[in-house]
Amino acid sequence: MEPLKIGIAGLGRLGKIHAENLVKRIPNATLTAACSILQHELDFVSKHLGIKQLYTDYDEMIRSADMDAVAIITTSGMHCAHLTTALEAGKHVFCEKPLGVTIEECKHAEKVVEAHPNQVFFLGFMRRFDASYQYAMEKVKSGAIGQPYLVKAVGIDPLKYIEGALKFAPTSGGIYIDMAIHDIDLMRWFLNDDPDTVYALGSSYGYPEFASFGDAETGCALYHFKNGGMGTIHTGRTAAHGYHIETEIVGTKGSIRISPVPQKNLAVFYNEHGVVTECVGSFPERFEAAYLKEMQVFVDCVLQATKPEISVYDGTRCTQIAFATTQSYKEGKLVNIQY
Ligand SMILES: NC(=O)c1ccc[n+]([C@@H]2O[C@H](COP(=O)([O-])OP(=O)(O)OC[C@H]3O[C@@H](n4cnc5c(N)ncnc54)[C@H](O)[C@@H]3O)[C@@H](O)[C@H]2O)c1
Repeated sequence: MEPLKIGIAGLGRLGKIHAENLVKRIPNATLTAACSILQHELDFVSKHLGIKQLYTDYDEMIRSADMDAVAIITTSGMHCAHLTTALEAGKHVFCEKPLGVTIEECKHAEKVVEAHPNQVFFLGFMRRFDASYQYAMEKVKSGAIGQPYLVKAVGIDPLKYIEGALKFAPTSGGIYIDMAIHDIDLMRWFLNDDPDTVYALGSSYGYPEFASFGDAETGCALYHFKNGGMGTIHTGRTAAHGYHIETEIVGTKGSIRISPVPQKNLAVFYNEHGVVTECVGSFPERFEAAYLKEMQVFVDCVLQATKPEISVYDGTRCTQIAFATTQSYKEGKLVNIQY
């Protein structure tokens, strides 16, 4: 079978990772084209990855490049427009989260995906492809913890990236929309349901500047699910120790904790500081294998004409929940989530 020809749009922090995976680690795909509005990023992929078809205009890449699929890793506000153009041109689409930056964009994306049922649409909620989360899901499905009824999620970015977070804050959509959306997806996945109500708080302690952007440095949210399940999310940006992603799934017969100590690896140091394990430093490091796995699954779906488990509707639901969470924190009251 011929390898899948893919073009990539967006070559920033995450786009570069996907581009390198497509060139070096996914044998049944060929990265044929790349697009960025930044010339130095195009120069990078030309020099280091040997990509020849280079574009600064997305629509032109979709019209003219030799490719059957596109990976959209552009700025969040462009996802909806970019996926629409690609699907309407007959391309299969891998799209990074979020599906859209408004509910209207998500609903529009649903319609476009529905209008092209023979093309693959894949949304990049990569945590579902992390080996530990996949293992936990297998255990949940096998009944190892009985009936799961509570998911507790912690997602805190490293303090060392606070300057970048402050710069991005005015346009990020806020902590629940930009950051907690992965935890929202995981809660829904493990509880196999959607929440109907949310109560959320948010505040800024070390960096009050977040408040001036209508955002919070740290958030805590509590969810009630339609099936009686519960969820909590603690999201933040000031983990002094590194990148802290932790999830606990509690069931009637036991619980599973994923990285309660978010350690870098299995090395433990015994020195003048005591017994020390280093913390994983960043999202590319923690989810390196998951970014590769999700793209491999996308390529396989296209080549084998199968549909991914994750759907465009998951993207809309997560966005609706994230907006309701933001509303609850801003209004200081319980919000009934509308779908
Ligand atoms: N799944 C995850 O864990 C995860 C992690 C980080 C980022 N993301 C998502 O990935 C996306 C990219 O994030 P990033 O941190 O790499 O951003 P970035 O700012 O580093 O890069 C953005 C890229 O988009 C390109 N771009 C912007 N507008 C464009 C246009 N009109 N046409 C063509 N290219 C355009 C830029 O040239 C740049 O290459 C965001 O939507 C973000 O939410 C997901």
